[in-house]
Amino acid sequence: MSSLVGSTPLDDFLNDSSTDTGELLERIGLLGAMFGVLLATGLIVFLAVVHRGRHREVVAILRVVGYAGAVMLVGAAVEVAGVASIADLGWIDALTYPTGRAAMMRMLGGLLIVLGASRSEQTVALGAVDQKGRIDKVEQQAPSDADALVRWLPSSAFAFVGAALGLLSFASDGHTVSRGPRVVHALVNLAHVSAASVWFGGLVGLVIVGLLRRSTRESSARDVLRFSSIATVALIVVTLAGSLMTWFVIDGFGDLTGTDWGRFLLLKVAAVGTAVAIGGYNHFAVVPALERSDDADAMVVRARTTISVEAIVLAFVVAVTVFLTTASTN
Ligand code: HEM
Repeated sequence: MSSLVGSTPLDDFLNDSSTDTGELLERIGLLGAMFGVLLATGLIVFLAVVHRGRHREVVAILRVVGYAGAVMLVGAAVEVAGVASIADLGWIDALTYPTGRAAMMRMLGGLLIVLGASRSEQTVALGAVDQKGRIDKVEQQAPSDADALVRWLPSSAFAFVGAALGLLSFASDGHTVSRGPRVVHALVNLAHVSAASVWFGGLVGLVIVGLLRRSTRESSARDVLRFSSIATVALIVVTLAGSLMTWFVIDGFGDLTGTDWGRFLLLKVAAVGTAVAIGGYNHFAVVPALERSDDADAMVVRARTTISVEAIVLAFVVAVTVFLTTASTN
């Protein structure tokens, strides 16, 4: 099952419980950085693939991408402070630890996302789309008709590079570097985190669009329909990759109940199961009703509610993941 590569300095580091302040700082920082990476990346994918709406919605979502990048930057800096405190090192030396290096990637990624989002906000390139979401023509500035339907056309690589750095950073720390085949584990981790960001960020994107359209009673039905099939693929990838990583980390099924790591994983899987049940209800009951436009108003409200609750449950999953990746496997 697991191919444990002996006890490494990283294992000792992860299992050391004597530095409470440092651990607290590391976890708080990781929480911010993880939320920032998942949210920024997921919202960028949401804008590029799912969203068709108003210019003001594109700008609002890009603004949230920028805030997520800032949270990622600050969170990663707090993480480095935590690592420095745990290992009793200076900041520069802390960067020689895998966790410190990964946090530095997140800091750089966060900075690029902040720059990329603000550049994109100033020079939003938009495609004017028809009711089916097809691009009619490309516009370089806000359309004169504020209600014209548009989609975002990425105009700066900064945010993409920042998001890629953030996703890759998770393949360079935690149990990914100490358990299982190194390269395979890193690739599986990358697939897991990427799919998780598409799922989580997409839900938050739908929540933002729903809030902006609430006063107009205009539905996000088409965005919900487009997101629904993408979320299904993301869920499959998240589950397969998460199961593979579990296989790499544990020595036997007893670890699931006999170690802190295993117990956090069981809590995480239970929360994911809850999110899947809510998403399933949305996919199989609410989305078909939206497609048929039965009782549209009631269904739009129901879709918004279930999407918001699913996003909150996934936020809890992310918080549990912070404890999972920093938990002892002994
Ligand atoms: C059945 C579903 C899932 C399983 C079995 C699972 C399992 C795992 C495992 C085993 C790890 C590695 C932990 C470690 O290195 O100690 C991990 C990492 C991670 N998971 Fe999940 N997970 C699932 C769903 C999710 C979901 C839904 C999200 C977020 C929306 C998520 C977010 C993450 C993130 C961000 C990491 C990377 C942490 C890191 O490498 O530092 N996971 N997951």
